[in-house]
Amino acid sequence: MSEKKEMIFKVENLRTWFPITKGAFKKVVGHVKAVDDVSLEVYRGETLGIVGESGCGKSTLGKTLMMLEKATDGQVLFNYDGEFRDITKFNAKEMFDFRKKVQMVFQDPYSALNPQKKIYTSFEEPLKVHGVNSEAEREAIMQKVLKMVNIQPDYLMRYPHEFSGGQRQRLCIARALEVMPEVLICDEPVSALDVSIQAQVLNLMKDIQKELNLTYLFIAHDLSVVQYMSDRIVVMYLGKIVEVADSRALYDEPLHPYTKALLSAIPVPDIHKTKKRQVLEGEVPSPIHKPTGCAFHNRCPHCMEICKQVDPAMTCHGAPGHMVACHLYNQEQQA
Ligand SMILES: Nc1ncnc2c1ncn2[C@@H]1O[C@H](COP(=O)(O)OP(=O)(O)OP(=O)(O)O)[C@@H](O)[C@H]1O
Ligand code: SF4
Ligand SMILES: [Mg+2]
Repeated sequence: MSEKKEMIFKVENLRTWFPITKGAFKKVVGHVKAVDDVSLEVYRGETLGIVGESGCGKSTLGKTLMMLEKATDGQVLFNYDGEFRDITKFNAKEMFDFRKKVQMVFQDPYSALNPQKKIYTSFEEPLKVHGVNSEAEREAIMQKVLKMVNIQPDYLMRYPHEFSGGQRQRLCIARALEVMPEVLICDEPVSALDVSIQAQVLNLMKDIQKELNLTYLFIAHDLSVVQYMSDRIVVMYLGKIVEVADSRALYDEPLHPYTKALLSAIPVPDIHKTKKRQVLEGEVPSPIHKPTGCAFHNRCPHCMEICKQVDPAMTCHGAPGHMVACHLYNQEQQA
């Protein structure tokens, strides 16, 4: 990461709620609060990891930052040469141009590539859509991005089923790079791959990031993978951010009881070291009927009376930039 941090995304009080409808008139009877009051900053050139249990809103957050899901409320500000513009207010033309700046890589590379079309066609389409009208120019771009992911140019004439899983994901990354994005939102990009191939793809992603000064939002279940990739990490629980910190600080000194429980589940590679595993008790509450106060209170071993009533605010604690939403630390500050 560069020394002087330049902010690229500034997300303020973002909510993405999905309406639950009932009956022939589709009366709205509730909402799935997939992303619920999220504020965060993303810096150019960094990898920001996003972790949390299944259903906590990671993918919805990623998609909302690209407006693949419509924000219900809040702002998503993107840096246009120093001027921050709210993409949630963009018209169709502005959104079309924005999509060149931010691209997404999904978990399943097979479904991301049309199985009936040769790779050449799948690679040509986004370039045509974004106005690269000269065939020679399109081919030059295709060759360049394929080279970046170590795939031979003549493979363009093959179909997706003729590639291995790792090659297919490399092709998806190459296709995302064609329009020269500034940000890649990677949603579980290696989860469908064999462990031996995962490292290859992750290292390639790191090399490309350095070469192009790309910013990554890296969503994954596997906390070891996120640690390997990320400069900073955001921990989500039931649509909210509960902790943000530099990768090192989060793994060495996690603060939130939920983060501690998540990290305690990572196996320790050193057989001489042991780690007490903290098993999370209780069910993840529904994002439709969220608990009052701290959403984690029904599973937290440190739950206090205030936790059941008051939603804790994010406060700074420990190393600079380490933020946590938990009354344990609020009380410490007040004392
Ligand atoms: N289009 C949708 N309509 C209604 N509910 C949705 C929609 N997309 C997601 N949800 C719900 O929003 C919540 C968050 O889902 P999301 O896919 O963002 O979670 P996630 O953290 O990415 O989970 P996973 O780790 O399993 O991928 C879940 O309860 C999910 O069922
Ligand atoms: S606010 Fe209370 S319930 Fe929530 S994590 Fe902190 S101690 Fe646990
Ligand atoms: Mg997901």
